[in-house]
Amino acid sequence: MLVIYDHHLLEISDEFRKWIQKFQFRYPVQSGEGLKDLDQFAGHVKKLSQLAEPMNSRKMTVLAVGGGSVGDFAGFFASVFKRGVSLIHIPTTWLAAIDSAHGGKTALNLDSVKNQIGTFYPAKQVVLVRSVLTSQPQALAQDAMGELGKIALIDGGSWVKRLEKSQRSQSDSDLLWDNLKNAIDAKMRVVIKDPVESKGVRQILNLGHTVGHVFETAFGWSHGFSVAQGLFFALEFSEHKGLLSEKEFDRAMRFLSERLGLAPDRPQQALSAKAFTSILSADKKRSGRDDVTFIFLRKFGKVERRSVPIAEIVSEAKRQGWIQSRAR
Ligand SMILES: NC(=O)c1ccc[n+]([C@@H]2O[C@H](COP(=O)([O-])OP(=O)(O)OC[C@H]3O[C@@H](n4cnc5c(N)ncnc54)[C@H](O)[C@@H]3O)[C@@H](O)[C@H]2O)c1
Repeated sequence: MLVIYDHHLLEISDEFRKWIQKFQFRYPVQSGEGLKDLDQFAGHVKKLSQLAEPMNSRKMTVLAVGGGSVGDFAGFFASVFKRGVSLIHIPTTWLAAIDSAHGGKTALNLDSVKNQIGTFYPAKQVVLVRSVLTSQPQALAQDAMGELGKIALIDGGSWVKRLEKSQRSQSDSDLLWDNLKNAIDAKMRVVIKDPVESKGVRQILNLGHTVGHVFETAFGWSHGFSVAQGLFFALEFSEHKGLLSEKEFDRAMRFLSERLGLAPDRPQQALSAKAFTSILSADKKRSGRDDVTFIFLRKFGKVERRSVPIAEIVSEAKRQGWIQSRAR
């Protein structure tokens, strides 16, 4: 077993420090988008390959212990090292536990453009450890609410209706734990229909992500917070285009704010239209396309994929105040 783990865990938990000593082959990493930088990858592979030298690669398993960045990196490594070795995830952030550890997407960033290099490589096991997850600081619990909100709006099943009607007395941690299995099952119901995103069905999981990634890159916000803001953007856009009724819009906004504690926000400094466009279209440039697939909400449990010109998303971002006229 080769354990790739978030170095930060050593600093925050005595229990983790003791536990990790049980493994002979350990590789600590610094979490974050830098870890997913393609330029750094060869350096990691050289060190990991030296570390793994005494191991039988056919029987080798990579154990990824950390948040989504560690999972994306370790998953990608496991998928290409010796043409693929076994992978197990122990997600240590709520975001990874609820979303990124499931469904098999691995990712590296190319020239700061997120997730341009990657594979579909499902882990053979994902181990969810309640004590690890519930001991996270409140900020990380809140950070995962965007992904919980996303999958809840996409799924709209009975678990969502229960959550919608429930009185909000639980802590964020308890709410996340209680809804973890339902949220993962809901994601997997989509993934199973389109495991390698060849049919387009899986793209609905990008609700809130199209512009969420722009916010993440432009403002350096966390992935979770950016997705939450991307969700609010998608709801307003859906309503503005007449795809989402005012009643369903209010219902979705109430759900995100009252049940999940999310609130629309704006950066201190708005983006220029040029910067917004350049980030939004960065991954499309090579294909020469000037549109992107945007996921709209029609109602709870019903989303719609549409191809939207980049220019239309930019003007919507202006309308919503993400791009200030003076900052053009
Ligand atoms: N592959 C997928 O399907 C998928 C889906 C969603 C997001 N992602 C990716 O996941 C990443 C975001 O995930 P994330 O927020 O978990 O990222 P992360 O790995 O950067 O973790 C966020 C922070 O939490 C810290 N941390 C980790 N475990 C902790 C714990 N138990 N207690 C306290 N602090 C802890 C980390 O050190 C880091 O500072 C992004 O790179 C995003 O692109 C991937």
